Amino acid sequence: MMQFKNQSSPPQKVFLSLKNVSKKYIQRNSESNTVLENINIQILDGEIVTILGKSGCGKSTLLNLIAGFENSFGGEILLNGKPVKDISPERIMMFQESALFPWLTAFQNVDFALKMAKVPKNQREKQAKHYLKIVGLSDYSNSYIHQLSGGMKQRVSLARALSLNPKILLMDEPFAALDITIKKTLYKELLNLHKKTRKTILFVTHNINEAVLLGDRVIVMSPRIYGIKKEYPIDIPKDQRDDDLSIKNIINQITADLYDNA
Ligand SMILES: Nc1ncnc2c1ncn2[C@@H]1O[C@H](COP(=O)(O)OP(=O)(O)OP(=O)(O)O)[C@@H](O)[C@H]1O
Ligand SMILES: [Mg+2]
Repeated sequence: MMQFKNQSSPPQKVFLSLKNVSKKYIQRNSESNTVLENINIQILDGEIVTILGKSGCGKSTLLNLIAGFENSFGGEILLNGKPVKDISPERIMMFQESALFPWLTAFQNVDFALKMAKVPKNQREKQAKHYLKIVGLSDYSNSYIHQLSGGMKQRVSLARALSLNPKILLMDEPFAALDITIKKTLYKELLNLHKKTRKTILFVTHNINEAVLLGDRVIVMSPRIYGIKKEYPIDIPKDQRDDDLSIKNIINQITADLYDNA
């Protein structure tokens, strides 16, 4: 059958697919604690999807499953059509705490990750320097982690994650501990990096403004249903979101969603 194609925006393919994903933890008294049930998410190649939800609703659990940290779960997680079974440099997680080695310099932290990923020594230096430059830390590459500010540490983490050239970046409240001015700078930097790299990003946060500023789509989770309550596609260009009226409207709707206890 003949199909019409829109030349200016080619159809994007589904890159990460979660089908009926569920997760239970077995407690000490051997009762099971359901955390996720019937999760269905389709993420397109190059999309930024943000996930919002109250504390304890299973956001980190969901990212952990996608990262491959947990092998026992129900349903199916497919990346590029292939089932996710284990950890892989294709799926790199970035945490709220930077999880860097304090006894190494910024450069050595990135270099170490490349070493673990078996990148040959003669390519490592160039790559590590390249990614530190991308995050604006060339002048700090020889600084030890304890000499860096919180924002700089998260930049090193981002450089380290990107240097592994993941297919998807999983970010678990990476900016939550930073103050608002640094957050705003990092939002801009992340969006610029995304423009350049077109990496698929799944970004978990508590912060409604952050979710709405960064996401092509916002997914709202609820602990009551162990899953997804609503999805908000956000079509407003990201550089116009700061003071757009319809953004304020979406923020109000999401706030109502989060706090109506359903
Ligand atoms: N390894 C684990 N063993 C047992 N229960 C767990 C484990 N990890 C998470 N849970 C439980 O799963 C539920 C969801 O936790 P999760 O960390 O995914 O929530 P969250 O949405 O990320 O919360 P927060 O916003 O506070 O980070 C919680 O009830 C938690 O106690
Ligand atoms: Mg969490």
